[in-house]
Amino acid sequence: MLADALPQDLREALDAVRPSLAARIRFFAEVDSTNDEALRLAEAGAGDGTAVVADLQRAGRGRRGRSWFSPPGAGVYLSVVVRPCDWPGGLALVTLGAGVAAARAVTAASGLPVELKWPNDLVVGRPWRKLGGVLSEAVGSRAPAEAVVVGIGINLRPVAYPPEIADRATSIEGELGRPADRAMLTAVLLAELDRVLSKMRGDETAWMCDEWRRLARSGLGRAPVRWQDRGGWRTGAAVDIDEDGALVVESAGRRERIISGEVLWDRVDA
Ligand code: BTN
Repeated sequence: MLADALPQDLREALDAVRPSLAARIRFFAEVDSTNDEALRLAEAGAGDGTAVVADLQRAGRGRRGRSWFSPPGAGVYLSVVVRPCDWPGGLALVTLGAGVAAARAVTAASGLPVELKWPNDLVVGRPWRKLGGVLSEAVGSRAPAEAVVVGIGINLRPVAYPPEIADRATSIEGELGRPADRAMLTAVLLAELDRVLSKMRGDETAWMCDEWRRLARSGLGRAPVRWQDRGGWRTGAAVDIDEDGALVVESAGRRERIISGEVLWDRVDA
C-alpha cells in the first residue's frame, strides 16, 4: 500500500522533538490496522524502527482477539518494527518497554499522570479507566521471531465508545478537560519508544523494569488479584514483575509467574 504524505502538524512536531524520526514513518490516512501494515513491511524486510502511523483504523486490533476502536482523529494509532528482538523475555519484555514509553510520552506531552496495568494497559483514576494499550506481534512463524511489531493505541479525544467498553474507556482530553496535541504526542511517543528500546539494547533492561514498577506501583505491592488458569479462577497478591516480563503473584504461600491471560485487580479494576 502506498503511504500518504506526512501531515504538516506531525512534520512540525517531529522537527521539534527529533527530526531524524520523520524518515522512518509511513503515514496513512486510513488502514485496516497499523499492526497489519507494519507486519507486511517487516516481512518485506523493513528495518528496525520503521513506524506506521494512521489517522484511522478500519479494523484496529487489541489483545485477546478484541477490536480497538479507532475513529478518525480521535487517537494515536501506531506500530513500530523492532528488529532484532532477542531479549530472553522476547515479546513480553518488549511489550513492557512499549508500555513504559507510552506512559512516559502521555505524561510528557499532555501532563496527564498515567499508570500501567500488567501486561500493558495505560490506565488512569479510580477505578481504573483505560486510556491505551499495547499489542506486540511476532513477524513470521519462526521462533525466536526475526522481528516484532509493537502496536500502541492511545485515546486522545472523547468519542462515543461502543457500549461494551463505554464505562471503562477514557481519553486524554476527557480526563484533562482541555485539548491535547496529537501530533506532539505521536512525536514524543516515537522518541520515547526509541529511547527505551535503545536502553534495553544497551543492557538496561533492569532500568526499564524499574520504570515499569514505578508506573505500575498501585498494582504491585501485594495488591489482591484474580486470574484464570486451567483449573479456573485463582486469587492471590501481585508482588512484582520479573525480567522476562512475567507478573509474579503469591498464592497460598507460593510464588508463581503469570505469563499470559487476563488478570483482574480487585480494588482498582473497573
Ligand atoms: C489492547 O489493549 O488490547 C491493545 C490495543 C492495541 C491497539 C493498537 S492501535 C495501533 C495498533 N494497531 C492495531 O490494530 N492495534 C494496535
